Amino acid sequence: MARPNTCYLPVIIVLFLLLGCKCRSDHSAAGDGEKLLAAKHDWGNPRQLVSWDPVAAADHCSWKGVVCAGGVGVVTELSLQGLSLTGSVPASVCELKNLHRLDLSYNNLTGAFPAATLYACAQLRFLDISFNSFTGVLPDHVDALSPVMEHLNLSSNSFGGVVPAAVARLPALKSLLLDNNRFTGAYPAAEISELSDLEVLTLAFNAFSPAPAPPEFAKLTKLTYLWMEKINLIGEIPEAYASLTELTVLAMSSNNLTGSIPAWVWHLRKLEFLYLYANALSGELTRDVTAVNLVELDVSTNQLTGEIPEAFGKLRNLEVMFLYENHFTGAIPAGIGLLPRLADIRIFINWFSGELPAELGKHSPLRELQVANNNLSGPLRETLCANRKLTVIAAFNNSFSGSLPANLGNCILLDYLALDDNQLSGTLPADIKQAFPS
Ligand SMILES: *[C@@H]1O[C@H](CO)[C@@H](O)[C@H](O)[C@H]1NC(C)=O
Ligand SMILES: *[C@@H]1O[C@H](CO)[C@@H](O)[C@H](O)[C@H]1NC(C)=O
Ligand SMILES: *[C@@H]1O[C@H](CO)[C@@H](O)[C@H](O)[C@H]1NC(C)=O
Ligand SMILES: *[C@@H]1O[C@H](CO)[C@@H](O)[C@H](O)[C@H]1NC(C)=O
Ligand SMILES: *[C@@H]1O[C@H](CO)[C@@H](O)[C@H](O)[C@H]1NC(C)=O
Repeated sequence: MARPNTCYLPVIIVLFLLLGCKCRSDHSAAGDGEKLLAAKHDWGNPRQLVSWDPVAAADHCSWKGVVCAGGVGVVTELSLQGLSLTGSVPASVCELKNLHRLDLSYNNLTGAFPAATLYACAQLRFLDISFNSFTGVLPDHVDALSPVMEHLNLSSNSFGGVVPAAVARLPALKSLLLDNNRFTGAYPAAEISELSDLEVLTLAFNAFSPAPAPPEFAKLTKLTYLWMEKINLIGEIPEAYASLTELTVLAMSSNNLTGSIPAWVWHLRKLEFLYLYANALSGELTRDVTAVNLVELDVSTNQLTGEIPEAFGKLRNLEVMFLYENHFTGAIPAGIGLLPRLADIRIFINWFSGELPAELGKHSPLRELQVANNNLSGPLRETLCANRKLTVIAAFNNSFSGSLPANLGNCILLDYLALDDNQLSGTLPADIKQAFPS
């Protein structure tokens, strides 16, 4: 009798532990299921959450937008984007105690920032309420959000008033997105600049008071994405931002920036998107361009002078080159014609002269060529239509001469062709003439 007992006891204990464990996780799982049902109820039982139904699917981890961790039924994520949810965020959502990611973007949520509700989500690391219709000011105690918050996306709502400094007192923040709201006054630049892990900062499209770009943002050396479009920036682009060497996106368009484009901008090795259009920038571009990963470059509508740097011919990833409405002079460097990805060239309304690069269009899928209102001369060559991708040729008011490219008919996608005010001769191919009667 004694032998079997001593023999089976450990087995029984193990079984008990396993069952005990199973019981606990079942209980926790069922608990989160009930909390989801409460949230569904509090949201007004919307049709979009019809799958949240224990009769149809007993495992709540299979319900739409619900993510559980470790197969034990504990809800860690809710991804409820684009479901036309209305009202606010029900308090029951944050009764899911292990929730670390909450994505409610692209819904129709209204009312004030649901502070009390969201503060109860104590594990939340990712909160996305962008593209909703929230209104009102952000509370001064918004730093009562989870202290482990890494990504806070409030973009594209109707929040207004002054951005409270508290929003930057979430020390783990890697992303802070405030763009496309109705914020006014000064944003808390000093506090934001202390967020040493910040990688993404968007302030764009808010009615902030006119002010220079804060030099202290130079401390944010992990920034990869800086979007400050149309926020009433004045003064010069800070020299101090030369420290922002991780930037892949730098966008400061539609402000009132003056002075020249600092050399450091052209030395950002990781930069892919540079948008400085619609400012009052002047001066020449740096000759020494080493930002070889640029994909889109838009410095249009400024007062920039001088020539296109030869070094642009090294920008092997360049797809978009917008230099229009400036005072640029000189010829377009031959190297531009050899870039393999260049698809969209807009350099109209400048004082460019000389011929188009000899092989323009031959090496890349050129879609648009907008060079009107310059003093470009020489021929329009057959290479332009070599890849048959051109949709727009706007070359009016230049000094182009010679006959039209004989293969213009190869540009089968062409839907805009304007060549007036040049010295061109020859006739349009019949199929083109049909497309452009007159
Ligand atoms: C709901 O929001 C979406 C985008 O987030 C918007 O397109 C739609 O018009 C909104 N619907 C209502 C009824 O406001
Ligand atoms: C909001 O910001 C986060 C963090 O940067 C990002 O992952 C997410 O895609 C953004 N949401 C939308 C709808 O773009
Ligand atoms: C910026 O320039 C625009 C147009 O030039 C002007 O209307 C606006 O008042 C200026 N804003 C500031 C803050 O200087
Ligand atoms: C033609 O282009 C030149 C150079 O940009 C410009 O000064 C001139 O005003 C333009 N002419 C017309 C009629 O637009
Ligand atoms: C435009 O270029 C042509 C030939 O390249 C030159 O003869 C003419 O003077 C230039 N026009 C202007 C206004 O600079």
